[in-house]
Amino acid sequence: MSTIDYSEKIPNNVDLANDRTLQRALEHWQPRFLEWWKELGPNDFANSDVYLRTAVGVDAQGWAHYGTVKMPDYRWGIFLADPIADRTIGFGDSFGQPVWQQVPGEFRSQFRRLIVTQGDTEPASVEQQHRLGHTCPSLYDLRNLFQINVEEGRHLWAMVYILHAYFGRDGREEAEELLARHSGDVDKPRILGTFNEPIEDWLSFFCFCYFTDRDGKFQLKSLAESSFDPLARTCRFMLTEEAHHMFVGETGLGRIVRRTLEVMKEIGSDGPEAIRRRGAVDLPLLQRYLNFWFSSSLDLFGSEVSSNAATTFANGIKGRPDETTQYQDHVCADSSFEIEVPDGKGGIIKDASPMRNAMNEVLRDAYIRDCEIGLKRWNMQIKRAGYSFELKLPSNRFRRSIGAWANIPTDLEGRPIGREEYDRCMPGWLPSASDRDYVKSLMQRVVEPGKMAAWIAPPERGVNNLPVDYEYVRLN
Ligand SMILES: [Fe+2]
Ligand SMILES: [Fe+2]
Repeated sequence: MSTIDYSEKIPNNVDLANDRTLQRALEHWQPRFLEWWKELGPNDFANSDVYLRTAVGVDAQGWAHYGTVKMPDYRWGIFLADPIADRTIGFGDSFGQPVWQQVPGEFRSQFRRLIVTQGDTEPASVEQQHRLGHTCPSLYDLRNLFQINVEEGRHLWAMVYILHAYFGRDGREEAEELLARHSGDVDKPRILGTFNEPIEDWLSFFCFCYFTDRDGKFQLKSLAESSFDPLARTCRFMLTEEAHHMFVGETGLGRIVRRTLEVMKEIGSDGPEAIRRRGAVDLPLLQRYLNFWFSSSLDLFGSEVSSNAATTFANGIKGRPDETTQYQDHVCADSSFEIEVPDGKGGIIKDASPMRNAMNEVLRDAYIRDCEIGLKRWNMQIKRAGYSFELKLPSNRFRRSIGAWANIPTDLEGRPIGREEYDRCMPGWLPSASDRDYVKSLMQRVVEPGKMAAWIAPPERGVNNLPVDYEYVRLN
């Protein structure tokens, strides 16, 4: 197991000290990163003491150390999972051959595009959540937000390292650009749509962690299969951190459901108005937020049929999540995948696509199955409380902006409908202006240790075996 050297300016387990040129280039980028953090990170909390975990190793057990830090002093570093001896290419045309330690020239631009796209999402989410700390529902939640923020910052480092170390001058330029684009910026927005959506309330934050960060998990899982071994190792370690982001999304939404059910029981009603008078989130409102973030996140996977996806799979650049354990055929040269496309007459037809071209859809399917797990759990809570309401994921055809269903009006079940009906129903399907105003009105900060805002139940346990009422953030 490799250990992480913390005596260095940039903590790392990639032996940076023995590559002076690379070390200098990254040390040159470091102050720009810190400037960016100061300007667009959770900068109003720069003086707060936050109970954070920091990576101290890369093996599965005990990889993180917990302690109190001020966020600007967080040790962002470069950590790759340990190499797997004699690892071979797991999919595509070069299946079974040794993995690459350098980027093959002919695949350079494809790799660069994927790494830049992934890298762009990391600082984007920090920018989106820039002001959320001011309305935290508890110190526990505030700490979790900051943990995610610093780790997304580290994920940016992970991608910037790969760009600097393996893409020469182009890579250094791309690393600069990663700090120049900004979420929601009119002139220089982030690359992917969802990462330009503002996150101004905690309901959106938990939805983002649940749905959008989960897209990140699936992208990382498929890049962790890559034949370019340094990229695979970087992504494998990022996934260790990512698990916490999924946890925050799932438990955050689960705690909202739990609180709402408590209120419903207390007042003996499931009427949204009555629930809102008690300052909780009615379930139909939650459903509209789920509809918004789920449909927006589905687009992140790209078109159902994509020649680009086929090439990146064939070339061993990007595989499928859990390629080795979940699939038998790793070459997919002559299999096909059935997709549903509009028939052009207001209906749906099934179409067979060569498997390689359908890889985005394969990934999206796996993602949707993963999204369903939380809903099952929350629905169980609702059922146990004696209510028949069921939270549902909308169809993957609903409100799409990319792919075969882009701009084709459908209802939540994915049935094609007329434009007029679509426009008429939309206010009931997505958060309305008054929904957003109501949610905004709930966003009052609660910073007394152990106290929770009225719209969310406390977590079942605290962080790292500490009690829930531990002072996870000292605001100073
Ligand atoms: Fe990330
Ligand atoms: Fe994340």
